[in-house]
This record gives sequence, structure tokens and C-alpha cells, in this order.
Amino acid sequence: MEVKTSLLDNMIGVGDMVLLEPLTEDSFLENLKNRFDHNEIYTYIGSVVISLNPYRSLPIYTPEKVEEYRNRNFYELSPHIFALADEAYRSLRDQDKDQCILITGESGAGKTEASKLVMSYVAAVCGKGQEVNKVKEQLLQSNPVLEAFGNAKTVRNDNSSRFGKYMDIEFDFKGDPLGGVISNYLLEKSRVVKQPRGERNFHIFYQLLSGSSDDTLKKLKLDRDVGKYNYLSLDSAVVSGLDDAANFRTVRNAMQIVGFMEDEMQSVLELVAAVLKLGNIEFKPESRCNGIDENLKEMCELLGIEQSVLERAFSYRTVEAKMEKVSTTLNVAQAYYARDALAKNLYSRLFSWLITRINGSIKVSNAQAKTRHKVMGVLDIYGFEIFEDNSFEQFIINYCNEKLQQIFIELTLREEQEEYIREGIEWTNIEYFNNAIICDLIENNKNGILAMLDEECLRPGTVTDETFLDKLNTVCAEHQHFESRLSKNSKFLTDHSLPHNCFRIQHYAGKVLYGVESFVDKNNDLLYRDLSQAMYKANHSLIKQLFPEGNPAKVNLKRPPTAGFQFKASVGTLMGNLQTKNPNYIRCIKPNDKKASHVFTESLVRHQLRYLGLMENVRVRRAGYAFRQPYEPCLERYKMLCKKTWPHWRGPAREGVEVLLTDLQVPAEEFSYGRSKIFIRNPRTLFFLEEKRKQCLEDLATLIQKIYRGWKCRSHFLLLKKSQIVVAAWYRRYSVRLLACARKLLRELKYQKRCEEAATTIAAYWHVNLKSVCDQMQKYFVGLKNNMPSMSPVDKSWPARPYLFLDGAHAALRRIFHLWRCKKYRSQFTEEKKAVYEEKLEASELFKDKKALYPSSVSQPFKGDYLEINKNPKFQKLNSALDDKVLLADVVSKINRANGKGSARIFLLTKKSVVLADQKTGQVKASVVLSDLASVSVSTQTDGFFALRLKEGTASAVKGDFLLSSEHLIEIITKLHRVGAANADKEKINVDISDEFLVQFKHDKVCVKFIQGSPKNGNNASCKRKNNRLLEVSVPNTPSTPSTP
Ligand SMILES: Nc1ncnc2c1ncn2[C@@H]1O[C@H](COP(=O)(O)OP(=O)(O)OP(=O)(O)O)[C@@H](O)[C@H]1O
Ligand SMILES: [Mg+2]
Repeated sequence: MEVKTSLLDNMIGVGDMVLLEPLTEDSFLENLKNRFDHNEIYTYIGSVVISLNPYRSLPIYTPEKVEEYRNRNFYELSPHIFALADEAYRSLRDQDKDQCILITGESGAGKTEASKLVMSYVAAVCGKGQEVNKVKEQLLQSNPVLEAFGNAKTVRNDNSSRFGKYMDIEFDFKGDPLGGVISNYLLEKSRVVKQPRGERNFHIFYQLLSGSSDDTLKKLKLDRDVGKYNYLSLDSAVVSGLDDAANFRTVRNAMQIVGFMEDEMQSVLELVAAVLKLGNIEFKPESRCNGIDENLKEMCELLGIEQSVLERAFSYRTVEAKMEKVSTTLNVAQAYYARDALAKNLYSRLFSWLITRINGSIKVSNAQAKTRHKVMGVLDIYGFEIFEDNSFEQFIINYCNEKLQQIFIELTLREEQEEYIREGIEWTNIEYFNNAIICDLIENNKNGILAMLDEECLRPGTVTDETFLDKLNTVCAEHQHFESRLSKNSKFLTDHSLPHNCFRIQHYAGKVLYGVESFVDKNNDLLYRDLSQAMYKANHSLIKQLFPEGNPAKVNLKRPPTAGFQFKASVGTLMGNLQTKNPNYIRCIKPNDKKASHVFTESLVRHQLRYLGLMENVRVRRAGYAFRQPYEPCLERYKMLCKKTWPHWRGPAREGVEVLLTDLQVPAEEFSYGRSKIFIRNPRTLFFLEEKRKQCLEDLATLIQKIYRGWKCRSHFLLLKKSQIVVAAWYRRYSVRLLACARKLLRELKYQKRCEEAATTIAAYWHVNLKSVCDQMQKYFVGLKNNMPSMSPVDKSWPARPYLFLDGAHAALRRIFHLWRCKKYRSQFTEEKKAVYEEKLEASELFKDKKALYPSSVSQPFKGDYLEINKNPKFQKLNSALDDKVLLADVVSKINRANGKGSARIFLLTKKSVVLADQKTGQVKASVVLSDLASVSVSTQTDGFFALRLKEGTASAVKGDFLLSSEHLIEIITKLHRVGAANADKEKINVDISDEFLVQFKHDKVCVKFIQGSPKNGNNASCKRKNNRLLEVSVPNTPSTPSTP
């Protein structure tokens, strides 16, 4: 069974201590040192990672490294924290097991760095996307914020965590982070007011002073000089390698990313500034509260507190009991005590608020909160610490570390051994130190140190740190891990290393001497109610929130739980939480005390590996089995490796696993069958199985691909076949129609071809005959030119058409010529002639085809003044009697009613009237204004008779109508009609054409009737009276009609 792993290949020393041979404390140390010297800071004990702090940055956390460890088997590559993070993440994502990463080690061993490396690795390998990236960023950026407010330089670590932190990161089913929850454990708040020599206050104070702008400092009423603040230590204000100003920018940026609003950040800084101001307030016996302290004033301004209220709170203490209030004056020392208590409370409450605020930002959204999440918890808690002076805080911190050691023992040593026994696996017990006894000394509810402390705090009467120690000396004297000078245990009476005001505990990690001073006080953690009420009155939103108990409406006289009690409870909850998860251990070791790189102090490391129980850990691991799993999931996971178990095993799972391992020829010493689990001794065997499985999965994937491809091709083929049948059916159905269409198309194409041929033939013909056609045309046009008819519009002659094909053109040319000739003819007319022709035209409209006389009038010009009345002196008198210019003057016959004979009269027409005058004397016989004329009646025949018919009732009508005869009848009537139409009233004189009409003589109406006959006086018409009522006019036969113009 050859397994090639890089864990084993080219390894410096031994990568997994389980494989160390021989296993002694020295060889263990030697192996660690050897690896450390070669920059191999990580070593395994099975699945536990030992991490040595290199105190310098190593190029082993690059993105390439992340890729290298991603999705790789834990034992495949050389030991690395990324391998543990990858294992935990994959087991969370793929096997749905909640995980916790437990990072332990003493102060400065590299726990916080390790926790950040784990988080950044998980962030790098989990899903991506806008929302996921935002969550990741917020989770990662919560670290710089919390470190600024919760970390400080100590003698052991320049960036020591002064609070415990446990962060649950929640993931969805795909393994994408959704959010998280941070829990914090007891901030070391005493540091706010006092720091041991060589240590600093929390980073944020120094960062604020060196990193913020002048403007911000001014607003916060601060001075950049650290030396001006009592609460800040001077001797180590500057730490080499720590750039406070740059870190301040990082913190602000991180706060923004986490989601702090600008005003929230400002409020936080105001509180930090207020703490600094508080430290500078001084109290003197005589003028303690006279309001002149500048710092108090500025602090009150910063927090919006009325100065007098705070001054009073620093001067008096009010105690309420049973409805009674008693005020006592504080002395100077008490006032300082109150001041420091307020500073510590302000800062620690601000810190808790920050955690709550960050949790608000990173919490899983409501929509996602309903589904179950996978959780990875990362625990980074203050490490075990031993200082020169150890107080309540160290006691609490070390208690917490005891509990963590306990859980480690529980899960890795005791649990493991118990499991072997439970499962019936042959096992020789391994001895190890169980620190449960120390935990009991501290936390036992009856006589544990914390219980004693609480009892003392709550006891009535005088309670001091000394009375507390007395109590311990009595109750714990017999405990083998408790040492005190004055205990009943006489063996310490002469131990001068034990001062009288101290007690010593033998922790799992070493003996620690605790001074009891201020234990009672710190456990009570009381803030005078006057101070919390003063804070509640502040006009500052954040301060108000931090001191809810100061609300006078909610006065609670019950004592708040003590600090020790609270811590014990929260550690209890934490342990309970951790026990529900799959643990992953990182055990951090500090190689030297000098924070120096390349220095490996053997004694120090030996001490740590002893108290961490690492040797026992290896022994248990070596004696035991690297891997165990219930039979069902084991068979399910590896059943594909054997034909007998794949794809289904019908029998019990255990038998299936037996068949599987036998088939794979895994040596018998490599595994043991437990009652419900299979135990695999060596990691390499597990790796072998995993490798085989991976290979098999690839083969299976190939098989699935092969089958899928075959299926896909066949389905495609069947589909094609089916489609072909459908296509063929459709084709046959339409092929007939297609043929008909094709034939039609062919016919059309043939016809088109014939047309083209015909066109070609015609074009060829025309090409040949074009000249003769041109000649003929030329001849035609020349002939036409020579035989043009006259320009008279009445000339109807037109040359004969020479060729039949010119028939249309010949007729059109004749029409065009005639129109042109007429136009020419018209264009020569003068205005007078135009007027004459207009009259002629009107005459034609009135009489053409209505009166037989009309044709003979066509050729006669309308002269108008036949008598030359203007020139003739004979008519001078007549002329002057007229009202207007004479338009027509002629001699007419006036027909006598009595005998039908005519007598000559001068007929005059002006624009306004018709005048009849005596021919000889020129005397006016009758004058009729045109408006009195109703109509003119004429016959249809060739005669010149016409009757002027007057409107009844007019002045002219008195004498009756006139029956007249003229040779120029057509002209007279036309002019009369025109003048009537041109008159102002535009009243036309009607022309009635009829062979019988009535004439109104003076009294009677006489009918005038026209008959054709041969009158006595030759060719002229004659009138004859037939009776009283009838005049008959005989008209000669109608001559032939002359042509119309
Ligand atoms: N993996 C590492 N690579 C480089 N330097 C490291 C590494 N781990 C720790 N360090 C250095 O050691 C210092 C102390 O580490 P860290 O703050 O993680 O200790 P810690 O165990 O959290 O101590 P504490 O209990 O006091 O909080 C870090 O500031 C860093 O300089
Ligand atoms: Mg830390």
C-alpha cells in the first residue's frame, strides 16, 4: 500500500507528532525546534495544529498558498493552519457538521493572529458574489474595530486582547457566509484608569490622539500630547512597529465598512475623549465642587451634561433603602474612586455597545434567519497569563483558560479513551492530568472561590478584601491546588513567597499568585446611582443608552449580578455551545519571552507543552486511532471501492465494511471494529481510502459521462429518425402541389423567353427599317410644310394623310395647327374689335339655331351708329336731348296696330334708355328707360320684327308696348340685352323667341303671329291686320343657313 503524501515527503523533522519515534519530551521539543528553525511553525498531533509564534511575517499566507490548500486532504500537504481551516470548512459545507475552532495558548502566543488567518482563509475559499463579499468584508472588518477598543500593549504582547471573543459565522447550505454573531467576555476595564508599568491603555486612546485631524481634536477638546492625560501611560506611549495614526485610519475605514454612520462614529469618539477628560478631573478637599475644573466643564460640554449635576454626583452619594433616601458627602478619595468607576463603566459599556452595534450589522437577515444555518465558531480568548501583580482580572482570565483546557481534555483525552471502552476496543489507559479539580476550586457553587467572593460581597456588615481572604483561608484550606499563608494548611505558614494579602492557585499551566486587593470591589462592579442618573440626564443619545439604570422612572433597588457571577454564567454558556460543535484545535505556543524572531527558549516551550498536555495528547493519539466513523456513513462513503458493496449492500453495514476492507487488502493492524464504529489507526490508511475514492469517483464520472453521451446520441438519432418520417410524409403531400407550381413557373418562364425573343426580333427589324421610316417621316413633314392651309380660322382644308401609320399623328397635328391658327388670329384683335366680337359672340349665344335670321347677320359688322348722329347737324337737337352717349342709332319701322303698316322712326339706344324719334323732325316720340323694359319678343324666322314689352305699371307702359321692325334686328336685340346686363341693377332683358306672342297696345292685347308664306313685297316680311286681336306676319321661306363663325 504505497501512499505518496507531501506530509511525509521532504519533511523537516516529523510533521505529525503521532509519527515521532521515539516519543519523549526531549524528542518532541527537538522536533518542534528543528521545524521552527526551518520556518515550519505548524506541526500536527493528529488533527490538532500546534502553532509556534514566528514573531515575523512569513510568506506562507499568500493567495497561492490558499489555492494550494484548497480542497486538499488534511494530511496531503505539509502542516498548515489553512489545512485545518479547509478541513473544518469542508466538513461544515459537505457533511453539515457545525464547527468550532478553539484557539488556546498564553498571552502573545498568536491566538488572535491565528483566528484572523482562519477567517481570511474561509473568506477566500467560500462563495463569491456582491452580497456574499459584503458580508465577508463586514465580518473581517469587525476585527480592527474590536482590536482598537479591546486590545492593548502589555508586557507580554504589544497587541494583547483584553477581552474574550467568540464569533459564530453562519453559512447557508452552499457554504456562503450569511452573517455572524460576536460574544464578548469581560473586558479588562481596570486598564482604563491604570496600567502596569511598561503597558498601555487601550489602543484607541493613542490612535485618536495621533491619528485624528487638528479639527477633530479641537471639536473633541483634546490635545495631541499624550502626556497631558492622566489615564495614559507615558513610558510606553510609543510602541515600535505600531503606527497608531495609520491604525486610526484603518479603524475609521473599518467602521464605515461595518456600517457605522458618521454621527455614530462621532459619538463614539466623544465618549473616548470624555474618558480622557474624566481622568484629568481633580478634586481638592476645600473646592471640590465649585465648578472651576476646566476638564469637568469640557467633559460636560462634550456629553451634553449639566455641569452642576455631575459636580453633585461627585460630591454626594445617595443611598436608598426602604423608601428612604440618605445622602452622604464624599471625601476626596471617594470622589476619585467615583471618577474612576465612572471612567471604567463608560468605556466598558461603550465597548459592549460597539459589539451590539457590529452584531446589528453582521446579523443574518430576517429572510434568511428562518432556514437552518451551518455555524463555524471561532474562539479567541485572552490567554493564560501570569504577571508580577495578578488581580481579579487575571483570576477570571485564567479561570476561563482552565475551562478551555477542560473542554480540550473532555473531547480529546477523556472522551477519546471513554469511547474506546464504550466501543469495546482493546485499550490500555493513558494517564493525564485532569484540571477539573481546579475548575471546581474556582466555580463550585458551594465552596468555590467565586461563590465565596459573591457571598462576601452580598454579606451585610463590613466587607473587605481581607475578610474575603479569611473566608478562603477557611473554606479552601484543604484544597490541594489552593495555597495561602494564613490558611489552616500549616505547610504554607513559613512560605515567604506567599505574602499575607495573597493566595496562590496551582493552575494547570502553573502557579499564580493573586493579590486580593480590590477583589471585592471589582466583583461588585458598582457605580453610584447618582452617577448613572447624572449620565442618563446627558443630552447625548449614546450616553443615555449606555446608562439605562439611571432612568429615575425605572429605579431598581435590586443589586445587579456580580462580575464573577456574570462571567461564570457566560463561560458556562460558551462551553455548552462549544460542546455541540465539532472541535478543531489550534494550540499556540510562544517560543520566547522577548517577542523575538528566531529565538526558541527551550524551557519556556517545555513548560507550555507540559501544561497544555501535548505529550499526553500524542500518546493517546498514538495508542488510539486516527479516525473513526459509524459503519453506515463509512460504508456509504467508500462502498464504490468494492464490487460486492457497490452499488448496494443488502446486509448489515458492519459486514459491508468488513467485506470492503478485506477486498481492499487493508492490513488488519490498521483498523479495529468497534460496536458501532470502525476505527482506523493511521491517517495514511484514511488517506489511502480517500485517494481510492477520489479515483473511483473520477471513473464513475467517466462512466456516467459515457452512458450519458451514448444516451444523448441515441436520443438524438431516434429524434432524427422520427423527424425524417414526418418530413418525408409532408414532402410527399406537397410534392404534387410543388410539381404543379413548377409547371406553371416553367410556362411563365417560356412565355417570358418568347417575349424577350420577340422584342429582340422587333428591335432588329426596327434597326434595319429605321432609316426608311426616318425618310418617310421626313418626306411627310416636308410635304405637310409645303401644303399648309391658310391662316383663316374658317379654312377647313388639310392635306391628305400619306401613310396609314401616321393616322393619329396627322389628326393631332391638324388639331394643334387649328388651335394655333385661332390663337394667332385672336392675338391680332384691337380692343374695339374684341368688343365687336364679344357682341357677335353674345348674338350667337342669343340667336344661333333659334332664329333663322341669325346666319345672315353673322357676316354683317355691328356698326351701331348707322345715322352718324353725332356728326349729322340734323340730329343735333335730338342728340342733345339724350341723357347719355348713343350706342345705336338706326331707322326702324314702327308697326301700326290699325293696319299693320310701318312708319319710319329713329331708334336710339343709350346706356339708360331707348328713344324713338320722328325721322324727319328728329322729335322724340317715345322714350323708355331700360329698367321699364320687361322683355323683347322676336320670331324664329328671317324677319326683322321685334316687340319691346314694357313692365306693367311703369310710366312707359301707359302708351303700351312697341312692335318694331329693323334690318339690324340681331344687332339691336344683342345691344339691348348687353346694356340691360351692364346696368347698375344687372337686370337682363329677356329675349323670347317664338312665332306667336302678345303685344300690349294701349288698351288691348294683340297677338302677333308669324307664318311662312310669300309676302307681297318680295323677299321682305309683311304684316297684316287680321282682326282686332291678331296681326299676322308673313315671312318668306327660310334661306339656307350661312356657316357660323
Ligand atoms: N502567524 C504569525 N505570523 C507572524 N507573526 C505572528 C503570528 N502569530 C503571532 N504573531 C505576532 O505575535 C503577536 C502576538 O500575537 P497575538 O496577538 O495573536 O497573540 P494572542 O495569543 O492573541 O495574545 P493575547 O492573549 O495577549 O491576546 C502579533 O502581534 C504578531 O506580531
Ligand atoms: Mg489576542
